[in-house]
Amino acid sequence: MIMCAVYRFIFLEVLYANLVWSRPSAEYCIFDKDKLKCHEHLPNISYPSDVTVLELSDLNWETLDLNAIVEKFPKLQRLVVVGRNIVRVIPPEKKTSIKVLELKRLMLTNISSTLLRNFASIEVLSLENNKLQALDNDFYLGSLQKLYLNHNKWKCSRDLEWVLNLNGSVVEDLDQLTCHGNPYSGKPLLPIAQYLKDIKDQCTEKCDCSLAHVVRDPKTDLLEPIIMVNCSERALTELPATLPRGTKILHLEDNSIENLKPLKTNAAYRDLLDLYLDNNLVGGMGALEGSHWLTHFRVFSLKGNKLAELPVYALDNALEKNSNMPGAVRIYLGGNPWRCNCVFTPVFQETLQKYSAQIKDMDDIKCAYVEGDENSLLPIADLSRSSVCKFPTEYSVQEALDLLNAVLACLIIFILGKLAYDYYHFKRTGRLPWIVTKMP
Ligand SMILES: *[C@@H]1O[C@H](CO)[C@@H](O)[C@H](O)[C@H]1NC(C)=O
Ligand SMILES: *[C@@H]1O[C@H](CO)[C@@H](O)[C@H](O)[C@H]1NC(C)=O
Ligand SMILES: *[C@@H]1O[C@H](CO)[C@@H](O)[C@H](O)[C@H]1NC(C)=O
Ligand SMILES: *[C@@H]1O[C@H](CO)[C@@H](O)[C@H](O)[C@H]1NC(C)=O
Repeated sequence: MIMCAVYRFIFLEVLYANLVWSRPSAEYCIFDKDKLKCHEHLPNISYPSDVTVLELSDLNWETLDLNAIVEKFPKLQRLVVVGRNIVRVIPPEKKTSIKVLELKRLMLTNISSTLLRNFASIEVLSLENNKLQALDNDFYLGSLQKLYLNHNKWKCSRDLEWVLNLNGSVVEDLDQLTCHGNPYSGKPLLPIAQYLKDIKDQCTEKCDCSLAHVVRDPKTDLLEPIIMVNCSERALTELPATLPRGTKILHLEDNSIENLKPLKTNAAYRDLLDLYLDNNLVGGMGALEGSHWLTHFRVFSLKGNKLAELPVYALDNALEKNSNMPGAVRIYLGGNPWRCNCVFTPVFQETLQKYSAQIKDMDDIKCAYVEGDENSLLPIADLSRSSVCKFPTEYSVQEALDLLNAVLACLIIFILGKLAYDYYHFKRTGRLPWIVTKMP
């Protein structure tokens, strides 16, 4: 309290010491040579004509009409308006000689693109700490040399072409401007405007391209755009030939794509991390053996395709080397007509088990429907080995034993016959059978 009282006393002393005109409005203004500072009000009085610097703080106006000020202060060189609730600025209709215009810490949400039209000698404009969401594309800079725009509410969900139209050598704090609110909150405005433009220019025909988000590489601290392309439900029969440079996420659900080869051969897919190919006609992954894709992908979704078998060893090998393993890799293989037999299934099961943390739809990976096959549409992970590798049943074991018995009986009959023949022969000729002469 005492401090406040002392402060107030000193403040008023300074104030009165500087007074040059009528007292009633004095408490609001300080005049010093050609410089006038007013707080809260700009009293409606006549001012000396040589004021060149005017500083207005905490005015309780909503609208700042520059016409009134230009009229009252014809020699003004520098106008500073700081603080409180000014929402809009009305540009002067007559030429003014103001060189420096600062409109700071106000509530400006919109600024006319022709604000500077009548500022014939303007050099510096500051619009810092307002609530501006964008400037107009054709914002008129005139003879401006320095423009300050930091700490506004730049909205990055709207077209940012205006940012690219700014003259970088005029906007002093261009590198410090950031997006406000979603999307890309807190991320630098200029690179984002550039990404958005590139994505628009390079977007795949018939598809939607967007900047899903922007991340900072924790190692290099470099900004990395996560570009998403959506070509779902476009009746495509092939993987798109071109993608915006650096595309990381590609949605191709509900098309008629069979061939995955471009994923290996087309350089447009080099940076791709997530590929959604649900409900297409992919029949095999053989074309991907040894591909960069298999060792670098993050999400590979092949639900509802025509897969019957996989090159299991190639996949295993690639996953071992995949740079996103184990945490980030997600694989979807459900809804395919998987072949269930003793050759493929046991190896497939081993792979499913080994990568059960990455395979996210295990219960949907089922045997194809085969008429009369008891494994039809059963989840492969749950199949027992004996149910895919059929050992002979009891009935056929019996059959095999019967066959063996018959063979043995024939052999016995043959040996007895041979014995009878040899005995008869020996009686007649006195010669031993050949086999006996050879025995020691
Ligand atoms: C300022 O004062 C002049 C004369 O005293 C008057 O005509 C004018 O309407 C006033 N303006 C405002 C905005 O009060
Ligand atoms: C800013 O004002 C202009 C002209 O009055 C208008 O066309 C534009 O939509 C406004 N922008 C915003 C963000 O309010
Ligand atoms: C940018 O501003 C500088 C300095 O005012 C000027 O010389 C230059 O011509 C401007 N560039 C463009 C593209 O307007
Ligand atoms: C992709 O586009 C389709 C159809 O236009 C839409 O239904 C789907 O939600 C989009 N997917 C994503 C991830 O935006």
